Amino acid sequence: MVNIKIDGVDYEVEDGLAIIQACEIAGVEVPRFCYHEKLSVAGNCRMCLVDVEDSRGLSPKPVASCAMQVSEGLHIYTKSKRVKNAQEGALEFLLMNHPLDCPICDQGGECDLQDQSMAFGFGSSRFEGDKRAVESKNMGPFIKTEMTRCIHCTGCVRFSSEISGNDEIGSIGRGRDMEITTYLNQAVESELSGNVIDLCPVGALTSKPYAFSARPWELRKTETIDVMDAMGSNIRIDSKGLRVMRVLPRLNDDINEEWITDKTRFFCDGLSLQRIDKPYQRINGVLEKTSWKNALELASETLKKTNPDKIAALTGDLIDIEAIYSLKKLIDFKDIKNIDCRQDGSSISGSPERWLFNSTFNGVEDSDGCLIIGCDLRKEAPLLNSRILRKSRNSNYKIGVIGFKNDLTFDYNFLGEKPTIVEDILGNNSDFCNDLKSMKKPMMIIGQGALIGKEAENFLNICIEIAHKFNFVTNEWNGFNVLHSSASRAGAMSVGFLPKKNGMSTEGIRESYNNNELEVLYLLGADEINLKRNDNCFVIYQGHHGDAGAQIADVIFPATAFCEQDGLYMNTEGRVQESNRSTYPLGEAKSNWEIIYLLAKRLGHKFDFDSLSSLREKLYTDFPSMDPLKEFVPLSFPVRSKYKKLNGHKFEKLIDNYWRTNSIARASSNLSKRDSYKRIDLER
Ligand code: SF4
Ligand code: SF4
Ligand code: FES
Repeated sequence: MVNIKIDGVDYEVEDGLAIIQACEIAGVEVPRFCYHEKLSVAGNCRMCLVDVEDSRGLSPKPVASCAMQVSEGLHIYTKSKRVKNAQEGALEFLLMNHPLDCPICDQGGECDLQDQSMAFGFGSSRFEGDKRAVESKNMGPFIKTEMTRCIHCTGCVRFSSEISGNDEIGSIGRGRDMEITTYLNQAVESELSGNVIDLCPVGALTSKPYAFSARPWELRKTETIDVMDAMGSNIRIDSKGLRVMRVLPRLNDDINEEWITDKTRFFCDGLSLQRIDKPYQRINGVLEKTSWKNALELASETLKKTNPDKIAALTGDLIDIEAIYSLKKLIDFKDIKNIDCRQDGSSISGSPERWLFNSTFNGVEDSDGCLIIGCDLRKEAPLLNSRILRKSRNSNYKIGVIGFKNDLTFDYNFLGEKPTIVEDILGNNSDFCNDLKSMKKPMMIIGQGALIGKEAENFLNICIEIAHKFNFVTNEWNGFNVLHSSASRAGAMSVGFLPKKNGMSTEGIRESYNNNELEVLYLLGADEINLKRNDNCFVIYQGHHGDAGAQIADVIFPATAFCEQDGLYMNTEGRVQESNRSTYPLGEAKSNWEIIYLLAKRLGHKFDFDSLSSLREKLYTDFPSMDPLKEFVPLSFPVRSKYKKLNGHKFEKLIDNYWRTNSIARASSNLSKRDSYKRIDLER
């Protein structure tokens, strides 16, 4: 710790902090454009100038507070006459070439340049010449550019190289001719590219889908969480009336830091496309609108007269824990055995430490190496991939990959594509063993693609054995991690939505459906199971989009999307978070738990709850870890179990098309534009 003075007040701060950070801790505002805590220091806007005085006296000129560290006895002046002149000068120079675009600029109302000009600016300009103009660039369907507004803070350039790892954005030219552009004028391809929109302090980079659609003060802002993957990123949904206008990240250093993926940022138009807003029933092979009464009656009568052994239920990837818990209660009442939440065919179960991300996302910072197994990390969890990218910059950080040889944005040692390589590692027959032996805190990340099929448990047991053999789990460290890519999976597994004794799993249910052996199939938002319509099985679909599940249904219950209801989700770390309602249900849609409650009532079963709050009380009683207000405590490591030699186990590619992984994403025209965007389009 060091003792410093800021504007005459004494503070004790951590040694090594930048002056701007120390001022922030002290609550003293220092204006800035190019400084960002998560990026390297550029020091090129000169807006953060402060005066400093040490034992040698006052500095000859103001210094950039983002580029200088605090030291013992330093006096910092943020409001001196010289600092004020410097700030006014920096702003005058920035505005010299800045267009007078505010009324037609999407950054208006949330623009750092506007705000800081008001607070620290000169009030008028002495510049009379022509302003510089820069041609705008085409960065693809997500990022709108107006490069004349660029103030060359290089935030987007540093993000592209340090966080997304693609090095797609850079600068060319010098001085007055400097321009920010993409490499060879191509569209950006990163899954995290939209974050440069937030980073850009001016309206040079704005959101293309959101362009000219709203001003910030018109929007209702709801803090909630994301369900596009299993990380549970913290987001803010901005809505206007019934429409979600945009999605922005919220700061949570434990999970998403302050980034979100492009899928999360731009899925929002999918919420108003292809929606199911009324109940439907199939009459003479055609889905016709019907009333809630008829739909519930039809479903309950069919369920009543069917042998429970001939009924199956599957839950989807976007479903809240309350709905899954309610359906489980209904399933138990009807004595149905064939249930599953693992649409992708993953077949692991058992105690949670066997299938959760035990080291937590923050654990990546402590790790000193990584072994990725059967996982396309960049597609399954792009933000986690970015954390590993940052670690990989340390030359001692060794990364081994087994399974898929994809561009992960960082260099790695590809150990092979066969699952049996884990046996080689266990038997000390791999070159990577030497690297593993040198690591004190290695991480293992096993994707769901490695855990599909009959041998999944055995494969997992071998991985656990490796974890115990090579320091992945020690008394001080738990680096054994299973990564999910579906938002509802960990929660559904925790409340036990898994096949009961002698019950069928997803694979069995699929076979039985195709072989005309199943009589009723209940799909709770399950759209990823790839089934064709079968007249011999009565399908009840509960969901919000006219997607795969609705197409094969006999009766459809319109349900709210995740942002139209309150709900709980457990992320892949085992952290429970609440998703809050940001818009209202569309048409006649009802929340998921309510539909199941009404259906149970028709079946003659009265749940021991009749509101969301009473449901949550029961849920917390049955599963205390589901209470989001409880402190999140990472789990202990998995215990060793018996394993045998692998016999034909295969890795499956889990995500074929990153932009189309769930029903909302598939409906989104923003995401489909990105999906179909070819770099040749740039020539237009
Ligand atoms: Fe106005 Fe800011 Fe847009 Fe510049 S970037 S035109 S200051 S709103
Ligand atoms: Fe900074 Fe925006 Fe210019 Fe990039 S485009 S350098 S983020 S002002
Ligand atoms: Fe320090 Fe830009 S914030 S120079």
